[in-house]
Amino acid sequence: MTNRTLKLDDDLYRYLLEVSLRETPLLKRLRDETAQLANAQWQIAPEQGQFMALLVRLSGARRIIEVGTFTGYSALCMAQAMPADGRLICCDIPGDYNATAERYWREAGLAGCIEQRLAPALETLAALEAAGQAGSFDLIFIDADKANYPAYFEHALGLVRQGGLILFDNTLWSGRVLEQHPDSVDTRAIQALNRALKDDARIDLSLLPLGDGLTLCRKR
Ligand SMILES: C[S@@+](CC[C@H](N)C(=O)[O-])C[C@H]1O[C@@H](n2cnc3c(N)ncnc32)[C@H](O)[C@@H]1O
Repeated sequence: MTNRTLKLDDDLYRYLLEVSLRETPLLKRLRDETAQLANAQWQIAPEQGQFMALLVRLSGARRIIEVGTFTGYSALCMAQAMPADGRLICCDIPGDYNATAERYWREAGLAGCIEQRLAPALETLAALEAAGQAGSFDLIFIDADKANYPAYFEHALGLVRQGGLILFDNTLWSGRVLEQHPDSVDTRAIQALNRALKDDARIDLSLLPLGDGLTLCRKR
């Protein structure tokens, strides 16, 4: 037994997947296809997708925003867990991978529930606010350009309802959050976000060592 979070070696990680991962054949196929791409490491881990699907089911989230969609794996995990009248808005910029996402969502029968908005996410989030949708979302998952994480947080706080969830991916950033004087703007932004969240009285907070670090914020 241990009273600190366990370090997973390869064998223990394999075991975890073996006894708990329930990935559908379609999600597995999408993961295999994405694995052929140069930026395959952008995709979340399958156990993280399963956890996020559980969060969607636990919270009954019906209105969801994703910031950073890539080939659509995390979006599909969440969309499959939404109720039948659920809606997911996916923010990304134009790229070859947008079409891959749409293809898998269609195959899952979920294309009608997912809307992809191809523009810088800060613009899309501002447009949603301007359209009077502040406070109307149940869950927002943020997994795009890290330099904008602090700005995404402020938009997300405005768009999510009280009691709603904001999730940030990559908040442990492969350990680079420990760097003392990082050159990378992305690393500095994640460090700044993590520090700011710790003392932010507007949210309840937990940082899970799942995947590359998944931070959960519940809007108070
Ligand atoms: C880490 S990937 C997302 C992975 C995805 N959540 C998954 O699990 O497959 C980050 C995505 O953010 C997108 N992105 C980068 N900068 C962006 C911006 N300013 N606005 C919207 N999307 C952006 C990239 O095009 C990329 O698809």
